[in-house]
Amino acid sequence: EQINKGNYKHYMQKEIHEQPESLTTTMRGRLLRGGSCKAKTVLLGGLKDHLKTIRRSRRIVFIGCGTSYNAALAARPILEELSGIPVTMEIASDLLDRQGPIYREDTAVFVSQSGETADSLSALEYALENGALCVGITNTVGSAIARNTHCGVHINAGAEIGVASTKAYTSQIVVMAMLALAIGGDTISNQARREAIIDGLFELPNKVREVLKLDQTMKDLAQELIAEQSLLVFGRGYNYATALEGALKVKEVALMHSEGILAGEMKHGPLALVDENLPTFVIATRDACFSKQQSVIQQLHARRGRLIVMCSKGDAASVCPGGSCRVIEVPQLEDCLQPVVNIVPLQLLAYHLTVLRGFNVDQPRNLAKSVTTQ
Ligand code: G6P
Repeated sequence: EQINKGNYKHYMQKEIHEQPESLTTTMRGRLLRGGSCKAKTVLLGGLKDHLKTIRRSRRIVFIGCGTSYNAALAARPILEELSGIPVTMEIASDLLDRQGPIYREDTAVFVSQSGETADSLSALEYALENGALCVGITNTVGSAIARNTHCGVHINAGAEIGVASTKAYTSQIVVMAMLALAIGGDTISNQARREAIIDGLFELPNKVREVLKLDQTMKDLAQELIAEQSLLVFGRGYNYATALEGALKVKEVALMHSEGILAGEMKHGPLALVDENLPTFVIATRDACFSKQQSVIQQLHARRGRLIVMCSKGDAASVCPGGSCRVIEVPQLEDCLQPVVNIVPLQLLAYHLTVLRGFNVDQPRNLAKSVTTQ
């Protein structure tokens, strides 16, 4: 077992640190630019016979559980932007509980690392019965979801052993960003945006390599938070998913209560919790929501919140004018890919908190890597 972990103490730690490589593998052979090919394009072989049908669908429905659901949520805005098709989100168990409507004109996208999660599989059966085109995005070749969907994309992140998903999450987002490029029309009006995203994908492994250098910073922060009962994480836009996923990591491995909150909802309840003791993490990297996040920070500050702010490199003074909060600076890239970079410090924080609190990193109590019963 130690051989498989290489120089790392735990699988989760190894899987966090191998993300530059897993992301590279996910993209290998799927992005084209320069050379004989004039335009920058994306090739997803597993979808090529179905792209026309997907483009004609009335709605795209993302279906998943846990981290896989969060990855789909992170990709939703770019898929909506590039395809112009409404994208709705379904937690597999909730879709089944409600027997929510699924139509023949829908494309149902099943996101699952293992491809074996019972709720996702039942939701797949349900969507097939209702005549939707079903697409699988999994990390496991030959898994039930891969076999039973009409078409799909393997994320090729390599085996993930730690129960808490890390590298599969970032690779899932990248696959869904590529899916958005593949579905979205290649029109003159969006050409610059598409090229910027493809350039961003090429840069991504290096940006992740850079953000991994925050390991010690996140360990120091974990040391500070070791005895806390709770951690709030605020995000919005592309990084609402980052807030949910960061909080999920802290909760599932460090066994600390943590809540990911949509910053736009702050005044509708969560603000009542904020005081000088409760650690409050705000994701405020540069994108179209930046000024709104600045005002969230000001309001939290006015309530004497104990702030930890994640911002783009060089933005410390803009997000924390008085220098009164802890700032985590991360490298910036194209907005829709920023969640891939932003989750890494939160993965590291969850990892170090778990080790410092003395809990089982790779097999958190009561949890399983793959939930195969309902
Ligand atoms: C379990 C795992 C999570 C995972 C979820 C969905 O709860 O502990 O890490 O996100 O199942 O699994 P899937 O294999 O469908 O992505």
